[in-house]
Amino acid sequence: MPLNIAVLASGRGSNLEAILEAIAAGKLDVTVKLVLVNVANAGAIEIAKRFGVPHALVANAGMPRKEHEVKVIEELKKHELDFVVLAGYMRVLSPQFLAEFKDSEGFFRVINIHPSLLPSFPGIRGYEEAYEYGVKVAGVTVHLVDERVDHGPILAQASFNREADDTLETFKARGLSIEHDLYPQVLQDISTKGVSFFSRVKDDTSDLKTEKETATR
Ligand code: GRF
Repeated sequence: MPLNIAVLASGRGSNLEAILEAIAAGKLDVTVKLVLVNVANAGAIEIAKRFGVPHALVANAGMPRKEHEVKVIEELKKHELDFVVLAGYMRVLSPQFLAEFKDSEGFFRVINIHPSLLPSFPGIRGYEEAYEYGVKVAGVTVHLVDERVDHGPILAQASFNREADDTLETFKARGLSIEHDLYPQVLQDISTKGVSFFSRVKDDTSDLKTEKETATR
């Protein structure tokens, strides 16, 4: 049975595109049941249309967070979803939202990709901050989401070197192309082996639990 996912995006949608291309190429056994965006002109909508994937706009402008999240959950719950996949979704998810996707094993079935080697450079300027800092090795992280921003059990990371002649643009482009390989690959591993596959690198699977008293928002 393929994994059923919804992809949440706010912008360009290149990670969504990489996921849909991997599916079309037969490399990823996942069904995208819904692409949901919160911004009317998000490129992700055009990509969803091009691939014939159901899509929805739930705009948040001028709406309290709670109200918006209720509407998003309403849309998501129309589908039988195994995972919610964040791909450039520029909204922080509240603990109430996450609770809707809590697994019986205690983790949230929500995945994110972040443009840095977490825990370095959380926030919306991952590539920029790593580049400005002058790191020699940068990277990307796919992780389960928890109640903290850009935080939660790491599923996979991939690194790349900063080259001497890199500009911010070439640096970001190299990172992004790594994202486009890594995200579909992680989803395929989850689809074939389950999310617990990723915990095997650790001695203690309790690291996958997100039952924390440390919610900071
Ligand atoms: C990516 O760099 C991703 O890591 C970050 O937001 C960006 C989204 O890009 N979370 P795109 O919309 O998938 O092109």
